[in-house]
Amino acid sequence: MCGIFGAVSKSEIQGSLISGLSKLEYRGYDSAGISIITGRQKIKRVRCVGKVKNLKRILNSSRSSGFCGIAHTRWATHGQPILKNSHPHNSSKVSIVHNGIIENSDELKVYLKKKNYKFTSDTDSEVIAHLFSYYAERSSDGVEAMKRVAKKLNGSFAIAAICERWPDHLLAACNGSPLLIGTKKGSNFISSDIHALSETTDTYVPLQDNEIVELNSTDYKIYNFTGRKISRKQTKAKKQTSEINKNGYKHFMQKEIYEQQEIISNAIKHQIGKKGLLPNIFGPNSDKLLLKTKHIHFVACGTSYNAALIAKYWIEEITDIVCTAEIASEYRYRTVNVPPGTLFVAISQSGETADTIYSLKKAKNRNYCSILSICNVPESSITRLSDLVYLTHAGPEISVASTKAFTSQLIALLFMTMVLSRTSKNKTIEKTILKQVKALPAIIKKTFLLEKEIKKIAKNFKNKKHTLFLGRGVSYPIALEAALKLKEITYIHAEGYAAGELKHGPLALVDKNLPVIGLMPDNNLVNQVLSNLAEVRARQGLVYIFTNKKLSSSKTDKTNVINMPSCGHFVSPLVYVIPMQLLSYYVAIEKKTNIDQPRNLAKSVTVE
Ligand code: M6R
Repeated sequence: MCGIFGAVSKSEIQGSLISGLSKLEYRGYDSAGISIITGRQKIKRVRCVGKVKNLKRILNSSRSSGFCGIAHTRWATHGQPILKNSHPHNSSKVSIVHNGIIENSDELKVYLKKKNYKFTSDTDSEVIAHLFSYYAERSSDGVEAMKRVAKKLNGSFAIAAICERWPDHLLAACNGSPLLIGTKKGSNFISSDIHALSETTDTYVPLQDNEIVELNSTDYKIYNFTGRKISRKQTKAKKQTSEINKNGYKHFMQKEIYEQQEIISNAIKHQIGKKGLLPNIFGPNSDKLLLKTKHIHFVACGTSYNAALIAKYWIEEITDIVCTAEIASEYRYRTVNVPPGTLFVAISQSGETADTIYSLKKAKNRNYCSILSICNVPESSITRLSDLVYLTHAGPEISVASTKAFTSQLIALLFMTMVLSRTSKNKTIEKTILKQVKALPAIIKKTFLLEKEIKKIAKNFKNKKHTLFLGRGVSYPIALEAALKLKEITYIHAEGYAAGELKHGPLALVDKNLPVIGLMPDNNLVNQVLSNLAEVRARQGLVYIFTNKKLSSSKTDKTNVINMPSCGHFVSPLVYVIPMQLLSYYVAIEKKTNIDQPRNLAKSVTVE
């Protein structure tokens, strides 16, 4: 799961390679590297462990000048994040970078070793370098060589390659991992995403599965794996307006938590008119489609999956529509029944998550009435593949831990619930939700006033090894999300549980050292949650309750109660997730972990 960038130009390319690569770091930051064909038509490779800033430092003292080159930022899949496993991988006169997983790399290694190729890394990618070298020596041109390489590979891949035999040509191939061509007068580029091209050009051409491209500084040619030439129109990218800086905050995560109030206000401003929700906010004729929908299959990963779970609770509470929320890595491989009238909804911040993309591709070949995506990144792989798109407009989310993307997805899903509620017998429910939504920005503002208290509580977690989060109903997915946030940035093992499930196993974990956090908005489930927390207290667990219910002292004995502002039932997940995000953030501050780029993770998970 890596970022690929390549450039071939009439002018020097080191600067554009580095600038493109910096923008792809969200796909992994275990190592970085570039290979450039120098003036003497030799490949010069520079690699380092860690981030692009380390690579920049090396290049400052040893510049690589040339007009054709490739670059890579890595998230380790095969082989530790050490120098020998960093990309580019070289073999004789070629250098390659790869994103994806080569499933038959073991067999290919045996094949290539018999041909005397020596392996110097533990990666699956190195087989591509040797294969390309082997075929480059036996092919009349780079396209022919790349075609022969691609035919040998099983799995998902995006590859960019250079060869001293064809010093003015960049070659690339893709199958299952995204790749785009960027074009500009006198230069052509290859990139894992559109964002990395933004400083260089706004004109791009997406590649599709099983395609090869050959680029020089003035032209590019696309072929499929059988060698047939493909013509495809260029697309103009929309301007990205958001600035990427911390705006005085210590971390991007902190900034992104605080941006949530404005993002929600903007969503309300743009999607709600005088008479309520504007028509067709999910795309052309989407209201009609939604009102005919009988089933919805939500598919997503991580935080986006937690948003999907909440949507299921909301929609099933007020309509007869049957919803499933499923983790994309499960959906993509299992047999799925698609009853007539089923809508497929993919939820993704990045629009580049491999499992969600595969699920969406699978769904396109099934009997769904439409494919809708809720996504934060315009012109991402997921939006390009969808029939209908709702953009969450949360602005670039830089911190690996997702915060503002989550609440912006929730507000979209609440809007969807409002449209679907028109099928309900309860004709006032849409108005009720609308009222709660409109009140939300002010409630979120009040929730931020808890920051000081949460900062204090966070100190109690510094030396904890485990934490449990409990919730019922719509607060159960918030318990999952709170646990995900805590483990992701503090490395404390955390679990989210449906509070009623505690006694079916996890209660065995409770002792005087275990913090148990109850999420308890004032609703019809308060008494049940209180009983579950009493069971924890009876075993000396350290109970914290986040609630807007006024509790009698008998219920709060030996319990830390954090008083939340009152909020409507439907918007409670958007309110209760905020102290959970702040708690994780301040525990991470206590533990001095790398908050924006936690160990072993990447912002966008582009391999399965
Ligand atoms: O870009 P996506 O929404 O598709 O990403 C899905 C997950 O990888 C993501 O939500 C991940 O779980 C976050 N790092 C959690 O904070």
